[in-house]
Amino acid sequence: MSEVSPRLLRSSARMSYDPEVDLDWDAPLVDGLWFMQPERLSLYGTALWDAMSQEQRLELSRHEVASIASVGVWFEIVLMQLMARELYGADPVTDRTHYALTELGDECRHSVMFGKAIARCGVPAYGPVPRVRRLGWVFKSIAHGPGAYASILVAEELLDRWQREPMKDERVQPLIRMVSRVHVLEEARHMTFAREEVARSVPALSRPALAWHRNVAAQSAYMVGRALVNPEVYAAVGLDPREARRQALGNPHYRETLAWMGERVVAFLDEQGMIGAADRPLWRRSLLVPA
Ligand SMILES: [Fe+2]
Ligand SMILES: [Fe+2]
Repeated sequence: MSEVSPRLLRSSARMSYDPEVDLDWDAPLVDGLWFMQPERLSLYGTALWDAMSQEQRLELSRHEVASIASVGVWFEIVLMQLMARELYGADPVTDRTHYALTELGDECRHSVMFGKAIARCGVPAYGPVPRVRRLGWVFKSIAHGPGAYASILVAEELLDRWQREPMKDERVQPLIRMVSRVHVLEEARHMTFAREEVARSVPALSRPALAWHRNVAAQSAYMVGRALVNPEVYAAVGLDPREARRQALGNPHYRETLAWMGERVVAFLDEQGMIGAADRPLWRRSLLVPA
């Protein structure tokens, strides 16, 4: 059924990483380097940022990258369940099934890699706030088809955009650069697969089903866009989390960053008819589209 699966399987065989052996976990962290690009930090350019010391800013980058990575793990655990559920009863002889199983394997290794990286940074795996965690539990239990694949694509494309910068930024810790590079290389296949799933399944939807799947995609965009930075990261560097969250969400730099992260996936989903008029306000509130 799928045209892309044989190609993606060949690419997986050629280029896959094992975090246990392909990354140097004993390499020391480098004093004075950022854990992510400062310009993409949620507080960059705010009054709070101006008042912070350089050490505090570097420390914020350590906690903020761990928050993003742990939200990444949370979403990977969600999408592994979506894909495993969808594979229940799938024909085990097809390339599509083989590729979907291979992708599940990739995500297992990614979650191990992110977990090890967070541990190496010596900070908590913040994950999303409890309310989003509860919503994610419902989402992973009911989402399916194009709504599920559109949501997977949103999370993957946001991280892809964001990770392409640190992987080549020499101001950033080598460990974070390497983790970013591995993830970008392997996620390219996942995004191709999710795009194909959306493009293939949307035209077959009835009008009510299309409205449902569009709404699922918009809800997850809203959830993921705002979940990346857990406000506890601010408390960890001595800031008032409520005030810092308020300044981050109103920060034109950060809003621009989120819209930049969402740019490609929003354009794709719009082109595929997955963004309807009824859901545009929700998409705007996700901050993944320009205000
Ligand atoms: Fe991944
Ligand atoms: Fe992925």
